[in-house]
Amino acid sequence: MAPRTQCTPFLRWALPRLGMRWAGFRKVRGQVCKRIARRIRELGLDGFEAYRRHLERHPEEWRVLDGLCRVTITRFHRDRGVFELLRGEVLPMLAEAVRASAETEQEGSRRAEETSAKVGKATEEWALPNQESGLPQRESVLLHIWSAGCASGEEPYTLALAERLEPALSSRGIRLHITATDADPHLLARARRGRYPVGALRDLPAGWVEEAFTPVSVPETNGPDMIDDAAPGGQPAPDRNAEMELSPEIREKVVFLEQDLREEMPGGPFHLILCRNLAFTYFDEAGRRETLGRLADRLVSGGVLVLGAHERLPGEGDAPSVDPAVDPPRFRRIRPGEPVYRLEAHGA
Ligand SMILES: C[S@@+](CC[C@H](N)C(=O)[O-])C[C@H]1O[C@@H](n2cnc3c(N)ncnc32)[C@H](O)[C@@H]1O
Repeated sequence: MAPRTQCTPFLRWALPRLGMRWAGFRKVRGQVCKRIARRIRELGLDGFEAYRRHLERHPEEWRVLDGLCRVTITRFHRDRGVFELLRGEVLPMLAEAVRASAETEQEGSRRAEETSAKVGKATEEWALPNQESGLPQRESVLLHIWSAGCASGEEPYTLALAERLEPALSSRGIRLHITATDADPHLLARARRGRYPVGALRDLPAGWVEEAFTPVSVPETNGPDMIDDAAPGGQPAPDRNAEMELSPEIREKVVFLEQDLREEMPGGPFHLILCRNLAFTYFDEAGRRETLGRLADRLVSGGVLVLGAHERLPGEGDAPSVDPAVDPPRFRRIRPGEPVYRLEAHGA
């Protein structure tokens, strides 16, 4: 038996030794404490203090503990305002910049000037180098995106759904190539499977669930039609216990890779990286700074980094709208209050 009260002092002792910080875990430690308590029972130990002595005698156990300290809370369309900003402004801006940059290369400086005038200041600010696959077809633009710490796929699939279902993207011919990484192989297996409880989809925009998911299991008590009540606005709400499967067409847009962010990252470069509710919440100061530098290395000039709603960059000032000295590299918030940052052009 491992009393939960012992978990907090144990985490305060252990987390810094794993390069993590207690403050990040304070509010969400329940999940982690439960897992550690289970591990203590598996080992036949008498509590957290005994587990601490076990770690001191068995250094290989630190690796196991590290794996138990991953918080996995997530959902589709988490932090709605951020995804609305991405769909409505950031992705179209990035696409315009890629398009303008490609045209500059392909059609000479005169044509580039015309394009610049058309997209105006935004293009000047967002000018990106042409990526190898930036213009696969004349009329479409391919943006490369990385979801770091993707859990069971909710975050990258939200973007894949947006490509398909958001008119602001489809009308501009914006296509997304999405790479998603996580250290947890079990979560990645769930991500590839693409089945979710109905509750995980509740924040998606109206109509997306009906468009892209099909029910796969129906509790006997609720009958086969999965409708048990009406949601606000008169929409029928599906049974909250049922599972919904994402269409293969959306699933195949995301490439999932097992990677520990501290050891490995996909090569990029990316136009957009989401690193939300991972490094900038749980890593210690040195880990956060190191991660930021490596993320910046994988962004194109003018590319965009998205953090979790309650996160900020290391070194960022207290004022919500300004980051006077995030240096190096230099990031700026796109909009006050939103954790969406643009990397200033390399060499700027
Ligand atoms: C709280 S979830 C965040 C999921 C999603 N990004 C979001 O904001 O909703 C954190 C995820 O990061 C993963 N993770 C934790 N440590 C990691 C590491 N060192 N490398 C890669 N992934 C890690 C966990 O397995 C978990 O899936």
